[in-house]
Parts: sequence; structure tokens; C-alpha cells
Amino acid sequence: MSKQEIIICNNLKDDLERVISSHKFDKLFILTDNHTYRYCLPVIKDIPAVENATHITIGVEDVNKTLETLAYVWLKLSNGEATRHSLMINLGGGMVTDLGGFAAATFKRGISFINIPTTLLSMVDAAVGGKTGINFNGLKNEIGAFAPASEVIIDSEFLKTSDYENIISGYAEMLKHGLISTFDNWKELVNFNFNNEIDYKLLQSLIGKSVCIKENVVEQDPFEKNIRKSLNLGHTIGHAFESFALKNENPVLHGYAVAWGLVCELYLSHVISGFPKEILRSTVSFIKEHYGKLAFSCKDYDTLYDFMTHDKKNESSASINFTLLSDIGNIKINQIVSKDDIFESLDFYSETMG
Ligand code: GLY
Repeated sequence: MSKQEIIICNNLKDDLERVISSHKFDKLFILTDNHTYRYCLPVIKDIPAVENATHITIGVEDVNKTLETLAYVWLKLSNGEATRHSLMINLGGGMVTDLGGFAAATFKRGISFINIPTTLLSMVDAAVGGKTGINFNGLKNEIGAFAPASEVIIDSEFLKTSDYENIISGYAEMLKHGLISTFDNWKELVNFNFNNEIDYKLLQSLIGKSVCIKENVVEQDPFEKNIRKSLNLGHTIGHAFESFALKNENPVLHGYAVAWGLVCELYLSHVISGFPKEILRSTVSFIKEHYGKLAFSCKDYDTLYDFMTHDKKNESSASINFTLLSDIGNIKINQIVSKDDIFESLDFYSETMG
């Protein structure tokens, strides 16, 4: 997979203008959702290439990450006479960068695209690392491709208008990156103060570190054959929580589910791989304070377990594949965990998050 350039920018207009002029293209397309069309596009609309671009706008939120929306984007590209030498900019959160990236990767067997993530979750995760796709048949990201953006331009200014829930949701992926990297990084993350006004300068520097951690992992293993599985920490049980909440018509933001998944998976890391108790305790207390709790009872354990068995990270439906840690940065991939241990981790969740 080709390497993508990650730009942590200070001036989006200047950086984007430079990046656009480094591309040779015939037509420029800009994909936004209804929200980013209104609130983010104005920041870049004075750039001459952007003024002349064809705009494609799709519905906001994950429910729109469908084959129908994808077909709509292909249609707009086709009707707009895009060629293999056209360029697309995806301006939005994870839905836009995932779906837009997949649309670009598949249109005429692939056109170049630039990601400009506008939510914290997409800055530190979705827009970086080349995973693209759509939901299908009720399953998240069921259809997709590895296709890196040529550039990812990260402007933390967008976060100043983001709501707290979306910031804290993205922050869960940063916490995960801290846990798979170094003690110092993890410490900085759990000490970040969300109780007063957010220190955006500090947040931007933490975003830079977080993206570096992900980039480094992706560079070593772009197609998730081994070490990229470390990025799945918290996600096996997290995805089950997310699907469970959705099934109960009470959807939760992805990062909340990941944070709750981290509680269970760090517990499993402690029991199975000796992950330090103190670090488990501090991380759980940070998550409890900032993410609240998903309501479920032991009657729901089988449903949650069922969701875990359907996780696409499993190598067979008979076993559930986990990434665990024996310490911060000490990663154990491909861990098969018993049903009893998983249920015990759900007990731990219920007792500690109480
Ligand atoms: N979101 C995990 C990954 O990019 O591999």
C-alpha cells in the first residue's frame, strides 16, 4: 500500500492549496455531508481550484454509509465526467472519509483522493491508514478496500465547533493508541483535563502523537496481517456493545463503545497476560468519569457474546480473536479467550462502572 502524507496543519487553506497544486488532475470533486457542506466547506471555498470544483453532498451520520449513497457518489462522478485523472477531496467525519475513499478507490479502478477529517475520531483513526468502505447487510464496514488517501490534512481548528460527545468519542481511539505505545503517552492522555475549557493546543499536540502511533503501526503492517491487529484493542467487545446499543434502538457513538470495550479487554489483559492492576484501575476510572456506562444485565451476556462471534476479525466463527496487552506497549495479538473469561470481564465491567 502506498504511503500517505499526513499533514498536521496550522493553516488549512495554505496547506490544501499547496497539496492540490502538487497533484496533476483534470477535475476536482469535493465530497461533503450536509453538515460539513455548511460549516467546513466555507473555510476552503476561496481556494480557486475549490471554487471550480464539483460538489457532492451526502447525508450526515452512519445510516447513510450505504450502497445507495455510494452509488449516488459514483453517479455524480460519472455525470461530472470524472476520469481516472480526477481528484477527490473528502471533507468530513469517518463516514465521509470511509465512503468517499471507497468511492474514489473503485471509480474507474481508482482515482486519487485527499482526506480532510473534521471530527476527532476521523482525525486520529478513520481518515488515516487506508481503510475505506461502507456498511452492508446490517454489518459495519462489511464491504471495503484498503486504499490510502494520497494526503490526510488534519486541522484541529474544526474541533473548536465540535460537541463534547464527539471529542470524547474520538479520544477513546487516542487512549487506545496510548495503551499500545508508551507509558508517558498514556499518562499524558489520562491526565488531560476535560473538566475545564479544553486546551486545544495541547489536544493538537496529542493528536499529532496519536496519528504518529497509528501511522507507524500501519506502515509496518498495512493489510492487518499481524501488528495492525493491535489497533483492534478494545474493539472486539466494543463492537458488541455498539451493535447491542443499536439493536436496542439506543445507538452510541463508536468511541464510547470502544472505551467500554477497553474496560473489559484491559481486564482480560490483566487476568490472562498480567497487565498491571494500577494502570487498569487508572484507565477504568478515566473511562468511568468521561464515558458513563452502557446499561445491560447478565441476561444480555449471550446476546453480546453472539455479536462477538460475528466479528470480522475472527478467523473462524468458533473462536473470538482478541488483542490483549501484558503492559503498555506490550502487545499480544491473536489471543483466543474463553466464553467464561469474557463473561467474567462483563461482570467486572458491571461491578466497576456501577
Ligand atoms: N481502525 C483500526 C485500523 O485502522 O486498523
